[in-house]
This record gives sequence, C-alpha cells and structure tokens, in this order.
Amino acid sequence: MRKIDDNVYVFDHPLIQHKISIMRSKDTSTKIFRELVNEIAMLMCYEVTKDLPLETYEVETPIAKTTGYRISGKTLALVPILRAGLGMVDGIMSMVPTAKVGHVGLYRDPKTHEPVEYYCKLPDDIENRSVYVLDPMLATGGSAVAAISFLKQRNVKSIKFLCLVAADEGIRHLHTTYPDVTIYCAANDKSLNENKYIVPGLGDAGDRIYGTK
Ligand code: PRP
Ligand code: URA
Repeated sequence: MRKIDDNVYVFDHPLIQHKISIMRSKDTSTKIFRELVNEIAMLMCYEVTKDLPLETYEVETPIAKTTGYRISGKTLALVPILRAGLGMVDGIMSMVPTAKVGHVGLYRDPKTHEPVEYYCKLPDDIENRSVYVLDPMLATGGSAVAAISFLKQRNVKSIKFLCLVAADEGIRHLHTTYPDVTIYCAANDKSLNENKYIVPGLGDAGDRIYGTK
C-alpha cells in the first residue's frame, strides 16, 4: 500500500493492479467485471481492517484450553453508495460477516454532474461504529462528500472511504472537505473528461456492474 498524501492510500499490490487492469478493458463482460469488483473489495478489506479492535476469549482445542481472539462487539458498518457501491458489499461481507449495512442512494445529474439524493437508511447505532463508505468511483468527489455529510450529521467519528478508481480532483475535493476521512483506492487516475468521467478510468461502474446503459 502506497501513501500519496496524509490519509490517502493507493493499493499497489500486484493482484489488485492485475485485476483492475482487466476491469478497465471495454471487452470485459458484466459477469467478470462484477466478480472483480468483489474480489478487489475483499483484498482491500484485508488491509483496511487492520486496526479493528480485538477481544480475547477462551477456546478449547481438542488438546487444551487457550486464548482466542475475536473482533470486538459493535464495531463496523458498511455504507455503499447506490448503486455501484453495492457491488463491493459481498466481497467485504465475506471477510466481516457481522458488519451492519446502511445505504445511501445518490446519482449524478447528467447535466450538472452534481449528486442527487434519493435514499438514506443507516443503522440506528451508526455513531458508535467505524464506517466504511463504499463506491467504486471517486470522480469529482461530489457523491462521496454528500454521502459522508449524512454520516457527519449522524455524528459518526470514524470514516474510511474505499473506492477502486480515484481521480486527483475527487481525492482533493474529499480530502479538503473531510481531512479526517481516510481514502483508500486501488488506482489513482489523473484527469476527468468533459462529462466528468475518469480518464482512463473504466467507464460507468454502475452500468458495467449491472449490465445497463
Ligand atoms: C457514479 C459512481 C459514484 C459517482 C462518482 O455513480 O458510482 O457514485 O458516479 O462521481 P462523482 O465523484 O463525480 O460524484 P452514478 O451517479 O453513475 O450512479 P450509479 O451508481 O447509480 O450508476
Ligand atoms: N462515475 C462512474 O461510474 N465513472 C466515472 O468515470 C465517473 C463517475
């Protein structure tokens, strides 16, 4: 994992670079694309969860009693940004199956490129949890900032943002608005086109995950 700024990390692991390159190809099918989103999310989860608190408990092996460790109590919530963020949930849940899941529904207005909210449902005790906001794409950063503002209104103190492709502009926007939020991405692309799509990016992540257009 490579640190590119305070609280901003790029996963440059060979497996992740390999998988993201396949996702970028316009010839990759919906099925493979969706599988890769989950696989990369799962790989990122391994590193991102390294500060989760543990508690001890007694385990009896066939030979003797010993001390076991488990992730302690009420700790984690995942908040995918609908719809593309949903594609990352299963991969992470396979590693942390007891996490609660909230949902924030946003889409980018095709003319203004500003996020439009249509849904927000978060766990009751969200303020006591460490929250991972999930969205494959960080382009202008508008959607991430809007989603995180809902969490801030609910007094959430620990927020990590996990995405697959992050543009410089989106990183800057999110980082200057909420410098306390740690940003993790699998790839850092430099620019946006006139329609605010990431260049080279991978296209419209929601459409590619769900086979729509
Ligand atoms: C995409 C993506 C992000 C957003 C990123 O969602 O999944 O949520 O755009 O762009 P931004 O950083 O400029 O806000 P989209 O609006 O296409 O909705 P969808 O997930 O429903 O396809
Ligand atoms: N949303 C996407 O899905 N892709 C982009 O490149 C930008 C925003």
